[in-house]
Amino acid sequence: MAIKGVIFDLDGVIVTTDQLHYQAWAKMADKEKIYFNKEINNRLRGVSRLESLEIILEQAQRIYSEAEKQELMDYKNNRYVQLIQNLTPEDILPDVLEVLNTLKTWNYRIAIGSSSKNAKIILQQIGLLNTFDAIADGTEITRSKPHPDVFLIAAQKLELKPTFCAVIEDAAAGIEAAKRAGMKAIAIGDAAKSNLADIRLNTIKDLLKLDELNNCD
Ligand code: G6P
Ligand code: MG
Repeated sequence: MAIKGVIFDLDGVIVTTDQLHYQAWAKMADKEKIYFNKEINNRLRGVSRLESLEIILEQAQRIYSEAEKQELMDYKNNRYVQLIQNLTPEDILPDVLEVLNTLKTWNYRIAIGSSSKNAKIILQQIGLLNTFDAIADGTEITRSKPHPDVFLIAAQKLELKPTFCAVIEDAAAGIEAAKRAGMKAIAIGDAAKSNLADIRLNTIKDLLKLDELNNCD
């Protein structure tokens, strides 16, 4: 099936915010004296704020009430929102602009499919708010990745059937979501470890070399 649309995850694919999520969660974990490391952080990629907190709390010494969980999420998000204020177009990951521009020249439709409720603020900060044909984000879904919802909304907004879409992801949860949506799942970074990935790329630029996405196709 020929691909007509490419849906990009945001955090860790387009921009370095995966590091900022990590910093903000680490600060919260430190405050609560909860063990946290990069390996645990990799499990938070693509999953919602609450589900991320629940994963971190697996290491906690005590049970947290719902009200306390809300406080911890607010603490993390306040810190995170402060950190993303400093983002600029320089934080766009290497080769991303070239990939986006080339796909546009080749007449692919491009979208963002992110679980983050902060996606639009981030896109604004890095100057890409008007670059994509569609944006689907955490404000539009109740079930985050690995549920396919955010990608299905992105495809709907692109006016494409899921089978015509490919997803680029750095999260194992995102790769699973793409497959459940009936899309081609392309992994970079940490997502390469997912055995559900259709294709694994060393760098995002290798996307332009794929037969499925090459204008010579
Ligand atoms: C992205 C990130 C996750 C994050 C989620 C929710 O998918 O990969 O690590 O937990 O968004 O982000 P938010 O900005 O809404 O807390
Ligand atoms: Mg990601």
